[in-house]
Amino acid sequence: MKVPRVLAIGSSLLLVFGVIMTFNWMISRSLVYKMSGAAHRKHADLKNAIKRTSKPHPKRKKTTVQGKTRKLKQPVLKKQPRVTFDKLNSKNESGKSYLSLLDILKAKNQPKHGKNIFFLQTTGVQKEETLQLIKLTAREACAIESAALHNPGLTVFVLFAGATHRMYSGNPWIRSLNFYKNIRLRRLNLLRYAAGTPIEKWIKLGKIYKSKYIFPHASDLLRYLTLYKYGGIYLDLDVVVLRSLEKMPPNFTGAETSKSLACGVMKMSSTGEGHQIAALCLQDLQANFNANNWGSIGPAVITRVAKKTCNTTRIQAMIDKPSHCKGLTVFDAKAFYAIPWRQWMDFFRSSSLNKTLKATSNSYVIHVWNKFSKFQRLRAREITAYTKYARTNCPRAFAAAGDFF
Ligand SMILES: *[C@@H]1O[C@H](CO)[C@@H](O)[C@H](O)[C@H]1NC(C)=O
Ligand SMILES: *[C@@H]1O[C@H](CO)[C@@H](O)[C@H](O)[C@H]1NC(C)=O
Ligand SMILES: *[C@@H]1O[C@H](CO)[C@@H](O)[C@H](O)[C@H]1NC(C)=O
Ligand SMILES: *[C@@H]1O[C@H](CO)[C@@H](O)[C@H](O)[C@H]1NC(C)=O
Repeated sequence: MKVPRVLAIGSSLLLVFGVIMTFNWMISRSLVYKMSGAAHRKHADLKNAIKRTSKPHPKRKKTTVQGKTRKLKQPVLKKQPRVTFDKLNSKNESGKSYLSLLDILKAKNQPKHGKNIFFLQTTGVQKEETLQLIKLTAREACAIESAALHNPGLTVFVLFAGATHRMYSGNPWIRSLNFYKNIRLRRLNLLRYAAGTPIEKWIKLGKIYKSKYIFPHASDLLRYLTLYKYGGIYLDLDVVVLRSLEKMPPNFTGAETSKSLACGVMKMSSTGEGHQIAALCLQDLQANFNANNWGSIGPAVITRVAKKTCNTTRIQAMIDKPSHCKGLTVFDAKAFYAIPWRQWMDFFRSSSLNKTLKATSNSYVIHVWNKFSKFQRLRAREITAYTKYARTNCPRAFAAAGDFF
């Protein structure tokens, strides 16, 4: 009975082989499942970010659960939203992908003279560039979105002086900016950016990098430098734009109080007097910079320059008689700073809603004083002046933020 023995050995070998193959197949199946699940969760995150859900914090966990249940119903990934940011996609060894921000000086789409809105994010600025991911809060994304939404004829540049990359799938409110064709995220290196401008030499001295307040000081400096280089509108990241700024006069700034102008909302033209004003600001800044004084080169710069340009020390006189200011328009506080910084809480309290809406009803922009308000947690469903304005002027960022804004 030799034949059956050979058969028995052969068949048991076959059996073992079969078991191994089946096992392998099962493992690969479960991996595929896991992977498609991850892709789906990502997609669901995105959809949830767009569709406002009112689930309690923490929102990330909830959307993941929803993504899982939805998986069975719609197994095919829908089209991702169009990515408008110029991108150089680089895969990291760790498998995470980053998009490197284009350098503003090298990017193909350069700012057009005067047709720009600029935001500046200077966190992490240093002499030598290092890989840093962009950070924007939901409120900052709101400022950017509101500017893009109300000014389709202008290009919104968000300039990062420290950050160099963004996550391919960053947080939902950053992704929500992808929907606007007129937003560009760019990076810059201060030394190279200042080349060929009146402040080049001074930057090379390196004083700014030794400042006790380097991030705010770099932001002060860069706003005047950017307006000098390209012309256009500069906006702080703690604003909400309420209406179009496209028909605003060619050179303007706003009063904050009866004694001081502010520099959170300004426009200067890239030629003529406006350019001259920006040049004067750069001069003033070098003369008055103090590494140990937070306020040495912010609003103080434009206030001093306007006093000189308008030949008056009285802010009200600048507002009343624009003809004395060589084409620099000075708006009164209602335009951009209707709520003074001491009352910043008014934006965040429902009891101040009516009063605040009334005070800002003719404003172009509200300025919410991030320096004080950034620690103020705010429930998105609370009815305050800030949530009310955000809901209509930055609908996507607001929705993407989740329960807290
Ligand atoms: C990947 O990450 C490491 C540190 O985690 C960083 O040094 C490297 O530059 C990154 N690569 C890319 C292409 O972003
Ligand atoms: C500036 O104003 C003063 C009076 O307040 C006047 O005497 C002077 O001529 C003015 N200068 C210019 C350049 O207009
Ligand atoms: C502001 O900008 C314009 C446009 O470049 C410039 O020619 C002018 O001198 C400034 N003032 C006014 C009123 O246009
Ligand atoms: C705010 O105004 C609305 C109507 O415009 C009114 O119903 C509401 O009571 C007011 N709220 C406060 C706190 O005054």
